[in-house]
Amino acid sequence: MKCSLGLEKCPDDTLRCFPKIEQPFGIVIFGASGDLTKRKLIPALNRLFEAGILPERFFVLGAARTKMDDKKFRSRFDANPDFLEHCSYISVDYQDPESFKQLKNTIETLMKRIDSNNLVFYLAVPPDLYIPILENLSKSGLNEKPARVVIEKPFGKDLESARRLEETLKKYFQEDQIFRIDHYLGKETVQNILVFRFANFIFEEIWNNKFVDHVQITMAEDIGVEHRAGYFENVGLLRDIFQNHMLQVLALIAMEPPSSFNGENFRNERVKLLRSIRPFPVEEMGNWIVRGQYGRGVVNGKEVPAYREEPGVDEDSNVETFVAMKLFIDNWRWSGVPFYLRAGKRLPRKITEVAVVFKKIPHSIFAGVPSDELEPNTIVFTLQPNEGISLEFQVKRPCPGMFPQLLSMDFRYEDYFGVKLPDAYERLLLDVILGDPTLFMRRDDLEVSWELLDPVLKAWENDPIRFSPHVYPAGTWGPREADLLIERDGRKWR
Ligand code: NDP
Ligand code: BG6
Repeated sequence: MKCSLGLEKCPDDTLRCFPKIEQPFGIVIFGASGDLTKRKLIPALNRLFEAGILPERFFVLGAARTKMDDKKFRSRFDANPDFLEHCSYISVDYQDPESFKQLKNTIETLMKRIDSNNLVFYLAVPPDLYIPILENLSKSGLNEKPARVVIEKPFGKDLESARRLEETLKKYFQEDQIFRIDHYLGKETVQNILVFRFANFIFEEIWNNKFVDHVQITMAEDIGVEHRAGYFENVGLLRDIFQNHMLQVLALIAMEPPSSFNGENFRNERVKLLRSIRPFPVEEMGNWIVRGQYGRGVVNGKEVPAYREEPGVDEDSNVETFVAMKLFIDNWRWSGVPFYLRAGKRLPRKITEVAVVFKKIPHSIFAGVPSDELEPNTIVFTLQPNEGISLEFQVKRPCPGMFPQLLSMDFRYEDYFGVKLPDAYERLLLDVILGDPTLFMRRDDLEVSWELLDPVLKAWENDPIRFSPHVYPAGTWGPREADLLIERDGRKWR
């Protein structure tokens, strides 16, 4: 089937299929001296530039406290020199209205140069700075439409702070100006969950509690806290991964079909699903959620320090670097189906996958092959790396007996399409510039995810000894308690 551009086959660089942005624009990045800007934002904008998608006239203005000139700022990035010509830098004090007056003058000069009022503010700073920046943007009149503001996760620290942030946003910006980014929604493989589910008839019929035994979602990373101890010590893994990426992936796997992908329908269904997750029983939290922290160990053949030995981490830190949980979705489709979720740092390898595990056959007709020993059919979405989908099923071994063997039928993006998948930030930055909010989180997405997790965080906070994280050796799949969480139900992690 031809795509909307009339192509039978995708070009090597699928970014070339995105429409060229016609309207000049400016993007101001707060926290431009930081990690996200260096690793994700500038590389993504540079790629969009190299793919010819950006208009002739645009600017990227980096803003942060660090003192540096444009030359030094540009030298931080490995990017196309022609792209870097569009980048400049201004030192700001996020808390100081005077500093925002200077910022406004600089922005006005740049806007005149590109002859456009299409402006985006990207808050790539630690979350404590969101409110002062938003207030100062408003005080200096920089919040006027059509300006948009992009907020990064974590969106607050708990339900109360998330509500405070939302109140501030609402005070100064209208909803269509606010883009709450969760980069997982920008991943091609995450969006593919929707196509797999809603462009195929055969799977939707079995996507429910009659056929599905349970679902597992794993987001494993081999890296540790790296140089982000300052951030991570204040946040922990539950807020860093579960409040956003994990729950969004879960929502796409389990939600009802929206009547259309565009606009609010998709976002409504996502939120509806999140609202159906059963709250965790605080009294027996340990049976539902396991908290872990990595100790010393070996990852990829290299000895690595314990979390508490990482630079910038408190030597008595109780912050979790691993979480496993079991949850139920209380609706007709999923009633009684457990969802097992786990994510952690310093696990054996980087892998993000969703496994939908079907029920075992009810009765075996093959002598010597008990039905409960036959591994069930499983559909595995490998979201990264080696992106693809696998279907596991039994086949007859080519021998005189009737012995089944589990096989995996694999689709890999790279083998089939032979293309490089765009980075999530490339796609999402493009959507922000074009003003399309479909793949961004809404206020109620945040509210509902915090409502679910807030009691967990409070329980951990109120009883730090009982809920102190179980230590697991770096390079393993988390603490033994995480295995018990699923093994108690007669199942195992894949
Ligand atoms: P950084 O820790 O690198 O901080 C960004 C910049 O903010 C720093 O360069 C610094 O600039 C300024 N800053 C840091 N701490 C303070 C402080 N206490 N007071 C004032 N300014 C400070 O953050 P990241 O770039 O890693 O992340 C930015 C945002 O993006 C965060 O909200 C994070 O959660 C989110 N995010 C990050 C990801 C990543 O991979 N890094 C992935 C997804 C989301 P200066 O000192 O020059 O002002
Ligand atoms: C970020 C988290 O949101 O996602 C990081 O803050 C984590 O801790 C990262 O490493 C993982 O993203 P990805 O795209 O590499 O899976």
